[in-house]
Amino acid sequence: MSTPPARPIVDEPVPSLTRWGAEELARLTAMVQQSSLFYWKGPQTTALLDEFRRHYPLKYCFPCSSGSASLHIAVAALRLRPGDEVIVAPITDMGSVIGILYQQGVPVFADLDPHTYNLDPADVRRRITGKTRAIMAVHLAGNPCDLTALSALAREHNIALIEDCAQSWGARHLGTPVGLIGDFGCYSFNDFKHIACGDGGIVATNSEHYGPGLSKWGDKSYDRVAGGRAPEELAPNYRISEPQSAVAVAQLTKLNDIVARRHHAGELLTSLLAGAPGVIPPRVAAGDTHSYWFYMLRLDLAQFTVPRGEITAALNAEGVPATSGYIPTTVYRYPVFQNHNFFGGTWPARDAGHTAMDYRTVSCPVAEAILNDCLVLKLNEAMSDAYLEKVARAVTTVARRLGK
Ligand SMILES: Cc1ncc(COP(=O)(O)O)c(C=O)c1O
Repeated sequence: MSTPPARPIVDEPVPSLTRWGAEELARLTAMVQQSSLFYWKGPQTTALLDEFRRHYPLKYCFPCSSGSASLHIAVAALRLRPGDEVIVAPITDMGSVIGILYQQGVPVFADLDPHTYNLDPADVRRRITGKTRAIMAVHLAGNPCDLTALSALAREHNIALIEDCAQSWGARHLGTPVGLIGDFGCYSFNDFKHIACGDGGIVATNSEHYGPGLSKWGDKSYDRVAGGRAPEELAPNYRISEPQSAVAVAQLTKLNDIVARRHHAGELLTSLLAGAPGVIPPRVAAGDTHSYWFYMLRLDLAQFTVPRGEITAALNAEGVPATSGYIPTTVYRYPVFQNHNFFGGTWPARDAGHTAMDYRTVSCPVAEAILNDCLVLKLNEAMSDAYLEKVARAVTTVARRLGK
């Protein structure tokens, strides 16, 4: 163990954010004058959709209760049959896969690119079968997936492309905001995202095929436009409500500023870390815009004399807000998958012979390697260049000190 430095290189606390203020208060104050907090045609929710469309010009939008809900609605709109497959990244939140399983579909995990940590289109291609109905592109940490390749693949196989934009507010692929290229863009306003309203989400599409019926999949299959109740399908209540919308619309007005600052901070870190031995910053494809929900890098552990945990401890001692790894394992290694414990200890889709999937045999070696050697550095829009320079100096110093 190394002795702690007398004075850490990063000699100030992580800059803190003021996330809610006058804009949110004004919206909430107006909202309490309303006689109803129901989302349908509610003034806050209407304003939310207007503001959302200024950033993401998508024709059909359903504001819902979470990012997980938005993804579930997108998958439900595909009208999967039991055993149908959706290809998804193994480094993501459970929210990406929950809806697939509830629709009796089968998440099929494809491996990742070692530098962007996003789906590797070549491995996605290998995992396409006659049962594949969609690819779910998770833009991890705010780095856009290779949407050019994934959308071409989806078109070639006549399958849908769902973009999981929960972590990627403000990110762009070749100038186009994420969520506009796929058949569905799915967004989250959970408390930890770039912009937040506690919990909330939006699912949106330009598709004339999926769009007109989209809202039914998040609102009990009720038809709010025509009125009346005659549900034709099984659909949960994933509605947003006016208090959530009030905060979310105020947050959306700040999006461009937040993303510009985070983008700047992330790019600055990457350039400053160029001289740190054994440190491999994330790669952003030419022409893409990463919106840095967090900053994930990889370590070439063969170049260090100590394991990752000791490197992280040394970074923390120098005042760097770093953690070892991201999620504890790839998603398919979670107990719920290893035990196929989806519905009371059973998996009806498999028990009825609709799939032979066995998650105990799934392997995505690149994703596993990423989780074994990555570090996550906290990043936020309040960090000044001077602060980030200290972080980069500390990382470089530690890498040199603990390198071979
Ligand atoms: C990549 C990804 N997808 C989906 C979700 C689910 O979003 P929510 O927490 O709003 O349900 C999250 C949330 O952490 C996420 O990071």
